[in-house]
Parts: sequence; C-alpha cells; structure tokens
Amino acid sequence: MTSYKELGLVNTKELFEKAMKGGYAVPAYNFNNMEQMQAIIQACVETKSPVILQVSSGARKYANQTLLRYMAQGAVEYAKELGCEKPQIVLHLDHGDSFELCKSCIEMGFSSVMIDGSSLPYDENIALTKKVCDFAHSQKDYVTVEGELGVLAGVEDDVSAEESHYTRPEEVQDFVSKTGVDSLAISIGTSHGRCKFKPEQCTRNADGLLIPPPLAFDVLEEIEKKLPGFPIVLHGSSSVPHEYVEQIEKYGGKIPDSVGIPEEQLRKAAKSAVCKINIDSDGRLAMTAAIRKVFVENPSEFDPRKYLGPAREELKKMYMRKNIEVLGSASHLD
Ligand code: G3H
Ligand code: 13P
Ligand code: ZN
Repeated sequence: MTSYKELGLVNTKELFEKAMKGGYAVPAYNFNNMEQMQAIIQACVETKSPVILQVSSGARKYANQTLLRYMAQGAVEYAKELGCEKPQIVLHLDHGDSFELCKSCIEMGFSSVMIDGSSLPYDENIALTKKVCDFAHSQKDYVTVEGELGVLAGVEDDVSAEESHYTRPEEVQDFVSKTGVDSLAISIGTSHGRCKFKPEQCTRNADGLLIPPPLAFDVLEEIEKKLPGFPIVLHGSSSVPHEYVEQIEKYGGKIPDSVGIPEEQLRKAAKSAVCKINIDSDGRLAMTAAIRKVFVENPSEFDPRKYLGPAREELKKMYMRKNIEVLGSASHLD
C-alpha cells in the first residue's frame, strides 16, 4: 500500500478548483512509454502547467501498470531536475471499468481514478461509482474520482459503444449527490479516436477538408446550471491536426476521413466548467507523422533513438502549444 503523496503526486481537487476560477482546463495526456512521458513533462515544465498523466487499459496491457506507476514517480523527480520546484502531477486511471481495478491502482499510488460506468443502466452506474468513491475517499490521503454520464461513440479497448448519446442534464445533480464523485465526464458530441464524426455528419470547406458539426454547448450550459462550480471533464478532445494527417499520408500512411474537435471549441469549453480535457489521439498522430518522415527520408536508419527522438520533439512542441493556446493551463503552476 503506497500513498500517492509519498511519490510526490497530487490529486485533482485543488487543480480543478484553480482551473475553475482561472477559466482554463488541466491537460490530461495519455502515456504508454518513456518518450511520451518525457515529452509531457518537458512541455508542462516549460509552460509551467499542472498535468494529469493518464493510464488507459490499453496502456496497462502494453506497458504494465506497475512500470507506469514507477514512471510517474520518476516523472516527479524528472520535473524537479528540469527546474520545476513544485511539480503538480496527477497519476490518473483512465476509463477504469471495475471496482477491483480502481482499488488496485489506488493501493499502488494512483492519486485519481476514473470509474466509467457510462455503459451500465443508470442505477448500476450509481452503485459502482459510489463504491469506488467510498473506497477512494476513505484513504489516508484522499484519492479523487471521476465518473461518467452519457455515452461517447467509439472504441477504447474494453470500453466501446456504437452510438453516442448526450448526457441528460436532468440526471447530473442526482448522480453527483448519490455517488460523491469529484468530477463528471460528460458527452456533448466528442468521441475517441481520429474519426470523431462520419463524413456524412460533416460539411467540407473549399479545400475539401471535413468540417465537423459543433459540440452541444447548450447541453454543457444546462449541466453547468444544474451543478454550479462543479468540475466537468471532456473526453475525446483531440483536434486531429490536419498537418499531421497530411504528413502521415505524404509518407505512405492511410488514415482517411480523419476529423477532430476544432481547437477554438476546446478553448471555449476550457473557459467554462470544463476543468479537464483528455487528449491521446493527437499524440499518436504527432509521433506517427514524425517517425514516418524519418523512415522515408532515411531508409537506412535503424537506431530507435533516431526516430523516437524526433517523435518526442514533435510531441513536446504539440503539448506546449495545447497548454498555451488551447487549454490555457500554461503559467498556472504555483
Ligand atoms: O480513452 C481512450 C484512450 O485513447 C486510450 O486508448 O486503451 O487504446 O490506450 P487505449
Ligand atoms: P482522443 O481519442 O480524442 O485523444 O480522446 C482521448 C481520451 O478521451 C482518453 O480518455
Ligand atoms: Zn476517454
């Protein structure tokens, strides 16, 4: 049994209180390997931003939960070595699907967990989420819990749904009061992955690029009215930058019909009660674009550092830009 405080990590409570007052969102970036972790920490130290390091079920299978937990501990020391006196790093379980998994992460030193019961009937979602909250909140050091209401379309390993449905504003107060969650993930039109909308849901601009329909800001406003001052979370918030899609295809990749959430909509959301914005796919695209370029331009290259290095640089550049221009979390470290 390890408490996250012994590892130098923090939970989300104060970070979200500050983000709510400051009109910005804390970045939640997924990581699966050392280069992603380094890029996230370098970017957040340089932009003076708090950060949530997220571990998904795919990451746990790929990299091992124990190893990722030790990497997060290493991330705290790494941030200090890079000159950050008081890093504010959360280690968060992304899309936890059972009480047992949340418990095992908490006992290992995670400072925050998500219990995703969004695909369950409402009452079962409440019961499961409450059970996780009761356990997480009774720890010596309070562990924060994110719940979810509403369904995002898309596949994320074990959590999948064919169709999305928006969060029902009339349910949120009841859900929060019955479960005790510290933050709530909602569905207002985002989804996971690089194809957030079907082409037939979009229009096209003069260059033929897909323009997605806007997020349901009216639903977000209704939710804010029902839960004043309560931290809201947006999943599926990659923008799927066109320059990465273009670079991947230029160097032999095939990723048709890619479309993300426009950055100005995320900026608008970050100014509202949305305190946490989840981004994974954009990191995958940035890495893939950089690696494909090296492979095509230098076919004889076989040293992983020569392609993972540029990928890490591109990732860092992207995270810095997100913190500064999209989420607004830059310069918000104490
Ligand atoms: O929540 C979704 C993330 O993109 C994680 O996906 O389980 O394939 O790592 P993953
Ligand atoms: P993206 O696929 O849009 O990056 O969403 C990531 C996410 O929500 C992780 O939980
Ligand atoms: Zn998600």
